[in-house]
Amino acid sequence: MKVRELTMKPIIIAIANQKGGVGKTTTARAILTKMAEKGFRCLGIDLDSQGNLSQGFGIDFPEDLHDQGSAALLAGYLRGERDLLPYITRIENKHPFDLLVGNDALDDMDELLIKKGEGVSLYTLKDALDAVQFDKKYQYIVIDCKPSITILTKAAMVAANGILIPVEPKYYSEKGLNRLLSTIYDIRRQANPRLEIYGVLPNKVDDRQRQTKEFYLLMAQCFPDLPMYKGIPQSVSVSDTDAGGYMFARRSKAAIAAFDSFAEEFLQRLEEHHEQL
Ligand SMILES: Nc1ncnc2c1ncn2[C@@H]1O[C@H](COP(=O)(O)OP(=O)(O)OP(=O)(O)O)[C@@H](O)[C@H]1O
Ligand SMILES: [Mg+2]
Repeated sequence: MKVRELTMKPIIIAIANQKGGVGKTTTARAILTKMAEKGFRCLGIDLDSQGNLSQGFGIDFPEDLHDQGSAALLAGYLRGERDLLPYITRIENKHPFDLLVGNDALDDMDELLIKKGEGVSLYTLKDALDAVQFDKKYQYIVIDCKPSITILTKAAMVAANGILIPVEPKYYSEKGLNRLLSTIYDIRRQANPRLEIYGVLPNKVDDRQRQTKEFYLLMAQCFPDLPMYKGIPQSVSVSDTDAGGYMFARRSKAAIAAFDSFAEEFLQRLEEHHEQL
């Protein structure tokens, strides 16, 4: 039996970048789908009030699920509840898994947590998840963060074992990355010294563009130690999407295949890495 199966503490991955539209949700989707397909017990956490991850898994109106989801779970935890499983939604895909949906209640939760002060609020998600983890229910938890660094995004970093950062190869992307990294370093100092950076995933890569080349050069110069995944190509037809704006059109085979092989590699590296710890 693998060592990690004996300890059964879930590995928590936060997918974060305060820049909007870089592919956080699409990446979360790809990873969760892959994990479920491989038979891992996993939980997705939609921590974005836009609810895109939830919609991507077929929940068209996550805002109608008042008694479920990540905001309701946090509120329940703050009220002193410890049975948090009722907040979880089962996604009945071919390979089912669990999800804490995201909806606009998360914005209120962000405000409430600000009022409580970072001393308490930074730890709320971690503590709430620990309560769920007592059930030894999950091997992996994947958190899809919103496109801004709010207290909830920081709370995700406090709860996580590691961060995965999707990035678009654009001019000035490295500036945004610098800001994100300084938040990660702050969180390490303040609350989660073992927080890792699993890597950067360049997405919407168009090799014909000059800024792509410059992006890679700058990354090598500015962040030589940051693990970098093979980029996902920009697919013209991906933006030609369904209502939720994150489903790939059928024609965008290259991007779908690239996300799938990324997820495969990511999961494999993750397994090997945590096996060694
Ligand atoms: N490789 C790609 N090529 C083209 N379009 C893509 C690619 N990856 C993602 N997209 C599209 O870009 C849009 C944004 O992607 P996604 O929602 O995953 O980003 P996000 O970082 O989660 O956005 P937000 O910051 O709003 O949460 C979606 O419409 C998605 O389908
Ligand atoms: Mg998103």
